[in-house]
Amino acid sequence: MNIDPIFKQINPPPRLMMGPGPVNADPRVQRAMSADLLGQYDPAMTAYMNEVMALYRQIFVVDYHWTFLIDGTSRAAIESALVSLIEPGDKVLVPVFGRFGHLLTEIASRCGAEVIILEKEWGEIFSPDEIKTALDAHQPKVLAICQGDTSTTMCQPLEEIGKLCHERGVISYVDATASIAGNELLIGDWKIDVCTAGLQKCLGGPSGSGPITLSDRAAELIKKRWHVEKGIEPAGFVPGQDSRIQSNYFDLAMVMAYWSPDRLNHHTEATSMLYGARECARCVLEEGLDQAIARHHMASDAMKAGLLALGLKLFGNLDYKMSNVTGVYIPSELDGEAVRRDMLHHFGVEIGTSFGPLHGKIWRIGAMGYNARKDTVLRTLNALSSCLKLHGMKIPEKDAALAALEIYNMQSDGTTPNIEISPVTDDA
Ligand SMILES: Cc1ncc(COP(=O)(O)O)c(C=O)c1O
Repeated sequence: MNIDPIFKQINPPPRLMMGPGPVNADPRVQRAMSADLLGQYDPAMTAYMNEVMALYRQIFVVDYHWTFLIDGTSRAAIESALVSLIEPGDKVLVPVFGRFGHLLTEIASRCGAEVIILEKEWGEIFSPDEIKTALDAHQPKVLAICQGDTSTTMCQPLEEIGKLCHERGVISYVDATASIAGNELLIGDWKIDVCTAGLQKCLGGPSGSGPITLSDRAAELIKKRWHVEKGIEPAGFVPGQDSRIQSNYFDLAMVMAYWSPDRLNHHTEATSMLYGARECARCVLEEGLDQAIARHHMASDAMKAGLLALGLKLFGNLDYKMSNVTGVYIPSELDGEAVRRDMLHHFGVEIGTSFGPLHGKIWRIGAMGYNARKDTVLRTLNALSSCLKLHGMKIPEKDAALAALEIYNMQSDGTTPNIEISPVTDDA
């Protein structure tokens, strides 16, 4: 039977993805992903697995041995961390400052935890004192928190929180999906126990692989829950004394055994995703992690300057804004969705909407990973400027893209950008 002609070869429209992620993958990552497949125990494949462990230790800035990949999107890595750390009845403290904090509470409660939630208004972050008070009052086993919550564009400082947890013997878990490689993150120095990430933001890859790193302390706790499936137990295997992890796929004790020299069979490693994850880390390290982070800050400064030149108001506590995404109030006279549609339709540029209390109030405009570049920032500002005019908005004389370009030019002649931020009001 012939194939129905409606099923054409995949040929997506060209898009510049400038939302909160995913973004366009680095072509080098896409090329790596098209390399030929290998058997999962081929020495060439296991050598790549070991290289991935070494590369991601540099991305997380750790010397933690247990640094590897979870097959699945970032949420899979989050779930594997939480289900492997939390036993039913454990107390888990979750400071929530946006949608992805709520995700952590949702996963922790599915793991049977007694979840203690601290909440902040969207657009703000927690002070170390607030966390310290809650740690002392509740004495949780685990603290789970996001670094960059893309729903609000805020980046939570973690240095003191990691240390506060460490001093108290609390296991700290951080979701750095949206912030890693675009914002400073020193997992080892900050004494954070477990961190998970994703490729599709500042690492410049597609979604589908979740890098994870575990301190020795966290790994020991998880190993105490090691139970192996029937039929593959190694000779002399003695199960861990603590309760079996409730998920098979996300059982980090078994996944660690697979990434150990024993290569104890678990899932079949997603080879093409591993190639992609390896190339993401390789590209960032080739550029230099600090340089990659600085590139994101530069794109952020330029984007902010362009948005302000358009007469728009920026969202949230800008002292703690993620470098890779900017929230901007939608002018009240405009239909925000219609503007976004026109940017996509006429210019092929995607910017983000927002969730929950911010829905319809702000757009989220990203410049991250492969897309944290001068040309992409300028193109986005030009497209937005034209679409605002198309929708009847009067915009100031100053050209938004030129305002952004000034920021780039200042950097190249060594001047420090000095962007004047207008005060934010809720009725913006
Ligand atoms: C902070 C944060 N955590 C988790 C996720 C979930 O990632 P994924 O969709 O790859 O599972 C996202 C996705 O945007 C995110 O921004």
